Amino acid sequence: MGNADTLPTPLVDRFNRRITYLRLSVTDRCDFRCVYCMEEKVEFLPRSQILTLEEMLAVARAFVELGVTKIRVTGGEPLVRKNVLWLIREIGRLDGLNELVLTTNGSRLEQMAQDLRAGGVRRLNVSLDSLDPERFRRLTRVGDLDKVLRGIAAARQAGFDRIKLNAVILKHRNHDEISALTQFAVDRGMDISFIEEMPLGVIGEHDRAEVYYSSDQIKADLERRYTLAPTTETTGGPSRYYRVQNTDTRVGFISPHSHNFCSNCNRVRLTAEGRLLLCLGQEDSVDLRAVLRASPDNSQALKTAIVSSMAVKPQGHDFALDRAPKILRFMSHTGG
Ligand code: 5AD
Ligand code: SF4
Repeated sequence: MGNADTLPTPLVDRFNRRITYLRLSVTDRCDFRCVYCMEEKVEFLPRSQILTLEEMLAVARAFVELGVTKIRVTGGEPLVRKNVLWLIREIGRLDGLNELVLTTNGSRLEQMAQDLRAGGVRRLNVSLDSLDPERFRRLTRVGDLDKVLRGIAAARQAGFDRIKLNAVILKHRNHDEISALTQFAVDRGMDISFIEEMPLGVIGEHDRAEVYYSSDQIKADLERRYTLAPTTETTGGPSRYYRVQNTDTRVGFISPHSHNFCSNCNRVRLTAEGRLLLCLGQEDSVDLRAVLRASPDNSQALKTAIVSSMAVKPQGHDFALDRAPKILRFMSHTGG
């Protein structure tokens, strides 16, 4: 195939943004029920509507052949999908892919970390919102903190290039743990990103405007204890990174409300049902499942549909806290 970096890519949108990164949601299911992500009782999609692993591989291959160099496997919780390791190994073998990474809630990492590493996953993002078992249970509704901590330990043993923690910060729920979470990362040479809650889906559990805790507040809290030096390092993503002085840890801030990050967007998302979402905060999408199922062995049709999707990628999201969410799908349907 040659080096994808040097190939001309047709995946450039109307705003001249080059798409090099695919987030692949392999399931909408999850073994947690995080309060900012889902309702306690959720209906998951029926099996027939979900892409098979073979269909997902076909999409991943088409994207890589079109110049995508980074794929993140995500969910829902990707590790609850049966045989997901098969898909990961196959994606890991695609010629031209430089980075295969995974986002997980950590519940199954203890058993799966070694196999994921061996299957070609280079970096992991693990969600961790609290270090207090009771609180962790309340935020995830069902999660077992100890299991996740054992999963993180197993991941460190397995030798990933980097492990990053993701923490969604909610006022009065876990905003007093910002330093403790950061210290946990520092002690283990991991990175950590703090995420502002995004209005994806209607949730009854809390008022999103009420629990809003901005990245600037988080940063100010941290600067009471640490010296943060801005870095030029970027993963091409929405995180702004700072190095915690004298440590191997970077702190990232993902701030959809306070700092719009759309102008450098380099990504698209595939939902588990094969909907190609062109923006996290908009409904514009292309139904790749229909294309796959109309002509299963026609990779050209798939590529044509993907290239055409560039014409409908929106300029940006317009999240707002003072009105009902515009996006009715949850993060678990979106490919966090
Ligand atoms: N806003 C912000 N982050 C969210 N996540 C899930 N739902 C939301 C939301 N509404 C996060 C999880 C996880 C990542 C995959 O997405 O905490 O870290
Ligand atoms: Fe599951 Fe992640 Fe949603 Fe929590 S945020 S319920 S772990 S998909």
